[in-house]
Amino acid sequence: MALKSTNPKTTEAWLKLQSHFLEIKDIHLKELFKNDPGRADDFTIKWEDFYVDFSKNRMTSKTLDLLLNLANELDLKDAISKYFNGDIINKTEGRAVLHTALRAKDDTEVFVDGENVIPEVYNVRHKIKMFTDAVVSGEHKGFTGQDITDVVNIGIGGSDLGPAMVVDALQYYKNHLNTHFVSNVDGDHYQEVVKQLNPETTLFVIVSKTFTTQETLSNANSIRSWFLKAMPEEAISNHFVAVSTNIESVKAFGIDEVNIFPMKDWVGGRFSLWSAVGLSISLAVGNSNFEALLNGAQSMDNHFKTEDFNKNIPVIAALLTIWYNNFFNAESEAIIPYTQYLNQFATYLQQGIMESNGKSIDRQGNRVNYETGTLIWGEPGTNSQHAFFQLIHQGTKLIPADFIGYKKSLHGNKDHHDKLMSNYFAQTEALMNGKTEKEVLLELTKDNLAQEVINNLLPFKIFEGNKPTTSILIDQLTPKSLGKLIAMYEHKIFVQGIIWNIFSYDQFGVELGKQLAKTILEELSSDKSQTKHDTSTQNLVNFYKD
Ligand code: F6P
Repeated sequence: MALKSTNPKTTEAWLKLQSHFLEIKDIHLKELFKNDPGRADDFTIKWEDFYVDFSKNRMTSKTLDLLLNLANELDLKDAISKYFNGDIINKTEGRAVLHTALRAKDDTEVFVDGENVIPEVYNVRHKIKMFTDAVVSGEHKGFTGQDITDVVNIGIGGSDLGPAMVVDALQYYKNHLNTHFVSNVDGDHYQEVVKQLNPETTLFVIVSKTFTTQETLSNANSIRSWFLKAMPEEAISNHFVAVSTNIESVKAFGIDEVNIFPMKDWVGGRFSLWSAVGLSISLAVGNSNFEALLNGAQSMDNHFKTEDFNKNIPVIAALLTIWYNNFFNAESEAIIPYTQYLNQFATYLQQGIMESNGKSIDRQGNRVNYETGTLIWGEPGTNSQHAFFQLIHQGTKLIPADFIGYKKSLHGNKDHHDKLMSNYFAQTEALMNGKTEKEVLLELTKDNLAQEVINNLLPFKIFEGNKPTTSILIDQLTPKSLGKLIAMYEHKIFVQGIIWNIFSYDQFGVELGKQLAKTILEELSSDKSQTKHDTSTQNLVNFYKD
């Protein structure tokens, strides 16, 4: 069954949120804490090894009630059951959206076109395990009999960002295999990678759901030519494997069917790291860690599916985005992990969130009359404190931020971890409280400065505060907890799309540029000067060719 379609602005809850916004918009978070001693506890959700504190957000219990009413009026419950049950919720592409089936328990039943997909999911998981174990143990050798030392993932977008982020995030758990990622069609990218490689000991994993993506096919072809300069054609089967839905095209590329790890079209690229797209993850950290990642995601799926909305982490996280985006007119959200391991997390989420919810047409095909989508950006703390935090603290824009931290570090250096986490706690406190005129005056007076200097400095040293943050504090960064965290954001994306009444699982917006690039590529190798484009593009193309 299709998703229902209602303009959220026509709901009673939306109208009530509009008037409630006028009551609350100027209230300072400090005041909310002062007036309600139970606030921190009331707005914190403790679930398994997660402690999620929503209390430093600009809401009251009335706000939350109204947001929950909005979710109920738009029948979020019904949408969640359609999502997990394999209904065609990606209507524009005529597909189910079933990344959750990839990590479901083996006794689950999920039907697509009348067939339970779970046995096939487990077949592929088994194939990933067998291959991983063979490569890691050295049983699978290169053509000349040497052990594999390096793995290169060739893919782009969802066929790169997820595996690359997870391999980086789980580097503490890595085995002896060196893992590399080639994505950009910029030839310098693959050249820089292959110069570190020995073809006799390298395994290439070509990942492309469609096996038609220009970047991936160009990189795969160039790398194969580089490989064949040193190795015979028969060596391909020891050194090249592929992940795709397009089995025929992979075979035409020269890869044996046994070396193809299939995926299904009901797995969206940006949600595909749980499928065979995660082969590079499994190779890098071992299959048991890959399975633990999947199990973590499964726990979060269960929490999302069964927990009441008022204690449901992805639901509340998503509703707060709606609150800031559509009522406070906030345009972006920052993701600040206090761990260097999540260095690529914001980049990964940019595709997940912006490719999914960067839409302006509602589920009935009409232009929306409200804002959708959020700009996502971020970098790990504490580095980001020394880069863009000034703007969050004292700029004119409201930027809600997620602070992700861990109770325990992996290497166990307590001195460093305490320093790191003291910053994690201090920043959300500073963003909330700010610094008043009175406090600044007191500080400047203590410094024995002349009154004139104090007067001049005063306005610049005041921090308004009242900047919203959500603190996500997790026990430790493990494959399982990472799986939960990623799945939390996946479900947040889903809820946002339901409320905004858009289709979150297509990505037609990335097609136009691709089509134009195809035409221009042909023109770049023609002798004729180009006159078909607007004058700006025409001049640029001609200048490039000159
Ligand atoms: O950027 C568009 C997109 O279709 C993404 O959604 C996808 O992850 C990426 O291209 C790569 O596609 P493929 O896996 O088919 O090569």
